[in-house]
Amino acid sequence: MTGVRFAGWGIAVPDRIVTNEELSQSLDTTDEWIFERTGIRERRVGGSSTLLGRQAAERALDDSGYRASDIDFVILATTTPDRLIPASAPVIAAELGITAPAIDLNAACSGFMYAVRVAQGLLATGHQRILVVGAEHLSRWTDWNDRTMAVLLGDGAGAAILEASEESQILASDLGSDGSLVHLLTCEHGGTIWMDGKEIFRRAVRVMVESAERAMQAADVTAEQLSLVIPHQANVRIINAACDRLGIPTDKAVVVLDRYGNTSSASIPLAVHDAREKGRLADGDLVLFTGFGAGMTWASSVVRWRA
Ligand code: UT7
Repeated sequence: MTGVRFAGWGIAVPDRIVTNEELSQSLDTTDEWIFERTGIRERRVGGSSTLLGRQAAERALDDSGYRASDIDFVILATTTPDRLIPASAPVIAAELGITAPAIDLNAACSGFMYAVRVAQGLLATGHQRILVVGAEHLSRWTDWNDRTMAVLLGDGAGAAILEASEESQILASDLGSDGSLVHLLTCEHGGTIWMDGKEIFRRAVRVMVESAERAMQAADVTAEQLSLVIPHQANVRIINAACDRLGIPTDKAVVVLDRYGNTSSASIPLAVHDAREKGRLADGDLVLFTGFGAGMTWASSVVRWRA
């Protein structure tokens, strides 16, 4: 069996909500500027990558009906592990009572899709059931006096259980990187997150569109056949521009960044959860997952949704 099935999903976000209004009391910014330029209204702040990741994982396990002992590999996509050493995945695994291999993976905002791709490979080599988590504690690495970054980022986590199956829900994927663009979005050891927002914006639309087109072509799926797009949540203007260029109506794109901001590798599973809650995913639907991030990295998959 070399196919992949998504057997369960779960999310976790901190309770603390920081609104644009609240940020505008300490920064030279306004709710109007933030919402018009990004689509963000508020974000969640708090917790840690292991805490949020473990909570999301517990919910994904509940959703799947499996127990922790059924998991034979754990992959945590994160840019914000709790510490440099050790990785945070074994900590999450231990808190769940899992002693299977557990690794962190950093592909920035493409991290969740990269982790799914690695899980797909592991399932093809004999693993049975893999916990994939995207968890971020970006607020820890945010300069709260820098209005260009502080308004964008949020904390959160999402998780999925992937298992081997005869039919594959993942029809095709496209992943890539261009490390010559390292300077566009960085966080040095002990520093805070910095980016060249304008340049990232320009390139993000292009890499998302090109990657999505390659994945759709490999899956032999046209834009018209897609029921939904689950994009990385960085800026609603990036999402809309990418949809326009792909010929996909923007109302087919799931948007959760109004509530969560940019949560990097957590953003795609947070969007999946929202789409499920709102009944926007039906059995057999064709769904495009697509993201980009620091590196730069990019990743797209065409998925046949199964209820
Ligand atoms: O997850 C992947 C990584 N991140 C991204 O994908 C983000 C990509 N980039 C973006 O989303 C957008 O470029 C931003 C939201 C970061 C910025 O939007 P923009 O439309 O590109 O604005 P800008 O950088 O051109 O700034 C316009 C003006 C500037 O003032 P001047 O030079 O025109 O006087 C900025 O100083 O807005 C100013 N500005 C702000 N004003 C109020 C920048 N940040 C703020 C702020 N509040 N928070």
